[in-house]
Amino acid sequence: MRAVFRQVLSRTFLEGQTVFEIGCGTGIDALWLARSGVNVVATDISREMVELVNKKAKHEGLTDRVRVANLRASEIGVLADEYGEEFFDGGFSHAGALNMEPALELVPSQLRRLVRRGGAFVCSIINKISLFELLFYPLVLRPRKAFRRLGHTVPIPISREPPLNRYVVPARFYSPKDAATLFRPDFAFESLQGLQIFLHPANLARYYADLLVAFMPLEILEETLSRVPPINAWGHHSILTFRRS
Ligand SMILES: C[S@@+](CC[C@H](N)C(=O)[O-])C[C@H]1O[C@@H](n2cnc3c(N)ncnc32)[C@H](O)[C@@H]1O
Repeated sequence: MRAVFRQVLSRTFLEGQTVFEIGCGTGIDALWLARSGVNVVATDISREMVELVNKKAKHEGLTDRVRVANLRASEIGVLADEYGEEFFDGGFSHAGALNMEPALELVPSQLRRLVRRGGAFVCSIINKISLFELLFYPLVLRPRKAFRRLGHTVPIPISREPPLNRYVVPARFYSPKDAATLFRPDFAFESLQGLQIFLHPANLARYYADLLVAFMPLEILEETLSRVPPINAWGHHSILTFRRS
């Protein structure tokens, strides 16, 4: 997932540009972009997370390129008070952080304050339904699980591993069309790539190592078709790129 998301990031953002990240977590992508010469303001609702990113940036000697801010997605517009209106070349958010924001409808107008005209916002959002789950769960006799995210708020664990799997965050799910509609007044839809259309989602990753060979044709299928409509809308995650109008 991360490798594919990074391909989109490196196509979109150039060395010397300045971007922000929403829900940076431990800063894996923010630090990766900074190493390639992009300036990043990494934000997260968790103070501990942004402190950790700050510490890592110091450790790697990246403090001139990585700044942090403890903000929730729906208040990200306050960065404009510090950096200026339309200061950023773009922004991004990966791995479902936007699904955890209960007021996602407030986010696009906040982003409008931050991103210059023609700048991009790239995000991966967890979809309501995916092709893999539609085919897989009926086969293991749990057909309802394929539809569990449809129209519901679902508690998702913050990690698959103990002890953090005890903690859950209520999350909401969006089809690519829902997301494009939310962003439409402020951003033009540019591209959609599906993630985990033919491949298993992360919660089934334990099967991957055992069945590596069986998954190889699916990987090729995914690589070939993940940007082709309408298949690009059938992923477990959707990578959407929006352009500030
Ligand atoms: C699944 S992690 C993804 C972290 C990182 N983007 C990555 O790819 O590793 C989700 C992150 O979103 C943060 N988060 C949850 N709700 C948020 C919100 N409403 N606004 C901003 N960040 C949020 C969490 O604290 C967590 O660090």
